[in-house]
Amino acid sequence: MSEVLLVEKLDGHIAKLTINRPDKLNALNAEVRGAIFRALDDLAGDDDVRVLVITGAGDKAFIAGADISEFKDARPVEQYRSMQRGSIYAAIQNFPKPVIAMINGFCLGGGCELAMSCDMRVASTRAKIGQPEINLGLIPGAGGTQRLPRLVGEGWAMRLIMSGELISGQKAAEIGLVEVAVEPEDLEAHVMELAGNIGARSPMALQAAKESIQAARRMPLDEGLRFERSWFALLFSTDDMAEGVDAFLEKRKAEFTGS
Ligand code: COA
Repeated sequence: MSEVLLVEKLDGHIAKLTINRPDKLNALNAEVRGAIFRALDDLAGDDDVRVLVITGAGDKAFIAGADISEFKDARPVEQYRSMQRGSIYAAIQNFPKPVIAMINGFCLGGGCELAMSCDMRVASTRAKIGQPEINLGLIPGAGGTQRLPRLVGEGWAMRLIMSGELISGQKAAEIGLVEVAVEPEDLEAHVMELAGNIGARSPMALQAAKESIQAARRMPLDEGLRFERSWFALLFSTDDMAEGVDAFLEKRKAEFTGS
């Protein structure tokens, strides 16, 4: 376990990753990115984990963006290659289990892009969220121009990216950048209840749901419907589906084993 990233396994098939550089507002440097890659790789193969929560250490920041000190003297070709080599954003999007961003404070630049790579987002009402790269003479480089308009529409994406303005968690919920904003003192309990609820489900069904919903972004409707139907039929091969149906008919709670 690297100390810039805390990895915890909690009851209810939940794993929690905490970016742990609170003195730098949890800015993402190469060490954190490497630790996230390794943790995702381990947790993807850990059958006991069915849902992942990502958050930031301390009460001030989720992630205040890429570590800007790494931009000083960075050259375009190396920058392009390092971003092409592998991205934590793609690794989160393609992680085979649901991922929830628990946004507890500043969620800026690469932090906002990381949150948008997650499957769900819950924010503290007092979080500050935005894409302030324009202040550095930059634009978002980890999906902000692509994922933000898909979530909030083109106008809000233009406004946030071009002005660098930060919005509250409350406002982010109003425009659809996060699904829910809750009072800071309720954030952890809200997210853990959601994660526990999801973690009690069949992991194969969760993966099928994630892949099928993501397919809606890139497939025309008829292709997406076919993709969904294939997953639906495939799930009839799982013990979990048999258990879910039996449990319903026997009026008891299903116990999913992941097989
Ligand atoms: N990269 C590197 N270091 C960062 C950082 C980042 N993205 N964001 C914050 N930090 C560091 C600060 O340099 C400071 O370090 P220091 O104590 O060694 O000087 C520490 O975190 C605390 O930040 P500070 O600026 O003192 O806190 P603040 O409450 O006054 O301001 C912010 C908070 C978030 C408004 C401000 O830190 C900020 O604008 N950060 C950059 C955000 C950004 O542009 N992100 C996108 C990058 S592409």
